[in-house]
Amino acid sequence: MRLDQFLSARTMYSRRELRQMITKGKVTVDGAVTKRADLPVDPEQNTVLLCGKHVSGDQYLYVLLHKPKGYVTSTDEPGQHTVMELIPPEMCRKELCPVGRLDKDSTGMLLLTDDGQLAHQVIAARSHVAKYYRITLARPWEDDYAPQIAAGITLADGAQCMPAQAALVPGTTHEVLICLHEGKYHQVRRMFAALGNHVSELERVALGGLLLPPDLALGDCILLSEKDVQKMLKCETDFASLLQTHQRSSS
Ligand code: URA
Repeated sequence: MRLDQFLSARTMYSRRELRQMITKGKVTVDGAVTKRADLPVDPEQNTVLLCGKHVSGDQYLYVLLHKPKGYVTSTDEPGQHTVMELIPPEMCRKELCPVGRLDKDSTGMLLLTDDGQLAHQVIAARSHVAKYYRITLARPWEDDYAPQIAAGITLADGAQCMPAQAALVPGTTHEVLICLHEGKYHQVRRMFAALGNHVSELERVALGGLLLPPDLALGDCILLSEKDVQKMLKCETDFASLLQTHQRSSS
């Protein structure tokens, strides 16, 4: 593959911009500056740096963002801050998109990738990856919520939710952990509205078998390995253990 093709598929820059950068000596291949846009590169063998930053040779990128409030889950929405603004340039590619969505006021784990097949796998109704949310209710939890959620809540517009699992975080009165295997629009908020309550805070704390890393600050992101992605797709997080973790973090 030519160097300019390699860089164009793995960065946000156009081929024209990249050719200019190459000519200005801003690109190194295996430590040596090159001014040849047509230099053959092997993504698995060569180390390419653009303006001193490593450009991953991997075919696809999997980025895990700790989404803060105030950003919409979209690639472009006029008049709004989008989650794309939080992705550092070296992790950005033209096709990078959020997988599923978190509301503007929600926080927590958000996956972004340029792997369309993986994105489909995560959000497809059939193969729904488990999503775990920690929420704060405006009014206290009631014991009949869990069986109603387990039976499948009917939303105000008549839409039927799949059975889900929810429990009060022990030692609290308003903190709840909930696990869903689907992703309807504003689903958690609408489920609790149907129960006569209101969600005031919502954080996604795990996706499949992958937990939000406790040391990942709000607004920061990391690259996931192939192994992390498999763990997310193929495993689930044990609900009871997660509840215990949240009990500890509340006390
Ligand atoms: N459900 C919601 O209501 N909001 C989110 O952001 C995620 C799930």
